[in-house]
Formats: sequence, C-alpha cells, structure tokens
Amino acid sequence: MTDFALLISDWYRLNARELPWRSTKNAYFIWLSEVILQQTRVDQGMKYYLNLIENYPNLKQLADADEESILKLWQGLGYYSRARNLHKTAQQVRDEYQGEFPKTYSEIIQLKGIGPYTAAAISSFAFDLPHAVVDGNVYRILSRYYGIDEPIDSTQGKKTFQALADSLIPSSDPALFNQAIMEFGAMQCIPNNPNCESCVLNQSCFSAFNSELIKKLPIKKG
Ligand code: ADE
Repeated sequence: MTDFALLISDWYRLNARELPWRSTKNAYFIWLSEVILQQTRVDQGMKYYLNLIENYPNLKQLADADEESILKLWQGLGYYSRARNLHKTAQQVRDEYQGEFPKTYSEIIQLKGIGPYTAAAISSFAFDLPHAVVDGNVYRILSRYYGIDEPIDSTQGKKTFQALADSLIPSSDPALFNQAIMEFGAMQCIPNNPNCESCVLNQSCFSAFNSELIKKLPIKKG
C-alpha cells in the first residue's frame, strides 16, 4: 500500500464521524445517500436520508411509489430532477434486475443517472470492489498532495486523477479508503485555509504549509 493510502486510512479510523450510510452494506441505501450527498451537505442531507429509507425501506417500494409522494419527501433538498431520476432508476432496477441492485461496476454505471462517482461509491461501499471515487474532495486532496497542476475540467485531467485514485485504492478494504478520502476532504483538507499543522500527511504532502499553492490547487482552466 502507498504511504498516502496508509496515512489516510489510519487517520480515518481515528477521526471518522459515525454516519448512518456508513454502517450498512445495503446498495439501495448507499445509492440513496450518495444521490442526496452529491449536492447537499451531510448535516442537511441526513434527515432526508432517514426519512426516505423509513418511508421506502426497500427499492421496490420506492419504484412502486408515485412520483408526487417522492417529491414531497424531497421538498427542500432542491435539484428535483434527482428525485425523478431516483424513481426512474428504481423502476429500472425493479424491472431489469428483479428489484435487486446489480453487483458489478459495469452494470451499475449503465443505470440511468449513475455516473462514475456514484458507481464507484456503490460498488466499493456495498460490494467491496476497488473502484476509486473521484469528486471535488479527491481532486483537491490529490492535486495538493502530489502537486498536480493538470486542470480538473479537462478530459485529460479527469483521466489523470481517476487513474491515480484507482492506483492508490487498496484491494483490501477499498470502501474504507473511499470513505477516508471523502472524510479527509470534508474535515481536514478543506477548500480554504486547511490546518496543515494538525495534518497527518504534512510530512509527505507537496503543498503542505504553502498557502499560495494551496489556494491555486486544484487548477481549473476556466
Ligand atoms: N459525501 C458524499 N458521499 C459521502 C459519504 N459517503 N460520507 C460522507 N460524505 C459524503
């Protein structure tokens, strides 16, 4: 395992928040949580998540629900197309997979509204497959730690970061690594004024204590 993976996993074991979607292997619950958290903060998304799984405890119940009722539970979360897509995808899984979430990355990514990030999250958290999540947190952490100045809004840049993340994720407990990197981005390597003093990666991080560099990374071409 790389130093990066070791350090970040150890940090996570000591610092992880207990969040309800982290103590389940239920792919349906994990999918719901990730769709909510794509555009919503943890503290705001939590009650919506709990409310949705209480009202629709399994995927078939969500698929069979009427759209109005789902939208009502989504009220206040915004980006309502997420709720409509959720419903359609639940119906797709009900109809094509007998209501059971598919268990391979290639099947998961073919579902409506599920892109590389969500497919990696579900396949690692629910099925322990070594697919690395790459989101804003991951761009920020990897660009700072490795000093990568490729723009994250270019096709090549996206490929570079995905390939790097996939090379870092350990085959033993890939779920832990993915949760760890997201938690690290939320709690430690934050967008503005991260506290490098208190960071367990500061001895090996390319950008540690360099506030000019930290401000610049990750690069966007515009
Ligand atoms: N944001 C997106 N996915 C998350 C997760 N699994 N835990 C915490 N924050 C997240």
